[in-house]
Amino acid sequence: MNKIYFDNAATTAIDSSVVDAMIPVMRNGFGNPSSTHSFGRSTRSLIEKARKDIAERLQCAASEIYFTSGGTEADNQALHLAVYDLGVKRIITSPIEHHAVVHTAEYLTARGVVELELLRVQPNGDVDLDHLEELLESDKKTLVSLMHANNEIGNLLDLHRVGTMCKARGAYFHSDTVQSMAHFNIDLSKTPVDFITCSAHKFHGPKGVGFFFARKGIPFKAFIQGGAQERDRRGGTENVPGIVGLHRALIDAIDHHKEHVASIKAIKQFFIDRLRETIPNVAFNGKSDSMDESLYTVLNVSLPPCEMAGMLLFHLDLHGIAASGGSACSAGSSIGSHVLTAIGADPNRPAIRFSFSKYNTHEEVDFAIEKLAALYTPKQEMA
Ligand SMILES: Cc1ncc(COP(=O)(O)O)c(C=O)c1O
Repeated sequence: MNKIYFDNAATTAIDSSVVDAMIPVMRNGFGNPSSTHSFGRSTRSLIEKARKDIAERLQCAASEIYFTSGGTEADNQALHLAVYDLGVKRIITSPIEHHAVVHTAEYLTARGVVELELLRVQPNGDVDLDHLEELLESDKKTLVSLMHANNEIGNLLDLHRVGTMCKARGAYFHSDTVQSMAHFNIDLSKTPVDFITCSAHKFHGPKGVGFFFARKGIPFKAFIQGGAQERDRRGGTENVPGIVGLHRALIDAIDHHKEHVASIKAIKQFFIDRLRETIPNVAFNGKSDSMDESLYTVLNVSLPPCEMAGMLLFHLDLHGIAASGGSACSAGSSIGSHVLTAIGADPNRPAIRFSFSKYNTHEEVDFAIEKLAALYTPKQEMA
């Protein structure tokens, strides 16, 4: 069996159609998009075509899309601009956000420029929206930052509900949509968000490129200074091949959305069924085993304690199977998953996140389950 890749929430394999779109730009499209001569104008037109097509697919204006170096930068941008350009005095977020949000919020709090409120999280991985409602009663100028799909446990947030709550209370709403972009239909004409973020490498595009969406009319300055690119809001020469790759990957994903969802959901369901058949007392963290209420690419498996607990990923890797994981932090240890810790997962149960793509097959699932189950099958006594 060839190597098996079940770590698609970390990154995905780049599609060959994406590589094919990028190569001519790397070879010949070297003009600086800020140059006014023909070399510059031709790369500029690639960027603007990408922006226009992406905006059309997401039902927003092209002028609301700003290309960035990826999701981390875009999340940083959202939180910084809220504080420094919009006068936000309080960030409400949750302890299960990606570090791009949690660490940025903690950094801004440590600098004394904003107050931080963390929402309670339920054992099933949902953030407590009653708590949000309570906190929104205050008059403080607020940014709410809550991710659409959790990268570790797959829980989904109702963007519409949260956006409506924020609007009613005059709070800005940022959602990290890095894991859901291209995997869910996002219609920005109907979704009440102020800011969302995207990273191309999560949907078979290149690494180091993404975008930041900011609702028209929200005034903000560049987070990265030093150039007038992106209409003065993101300095630095654009990553043209990256933007072309992002464009191709996003359009392909959206245009083939139905078939990708069907094939990935089938793989995930098969994985769940095979695990339940083979490993007694297997469980799932968050809502990741729900087909309707979770990110269909992510399955966070909670395994019974076993002698090999610390070696599970290594054991899988030895058999050519890539996954990722970790358990909740045990008392006194800060190593572990902040998400599993926040939902109160048992630190004695090892957790493995398997995350899927359109390239995975049922045979790969069978092979991985066989290797995992071997660790839970009592060894035959030697005669
Ligand atoms: C939810 C989420 N937000 C942000 C990021 C960061 O994106 P990037 O790798 O493009 O910086 C990731 C990537 O792991 C992610 O999963």
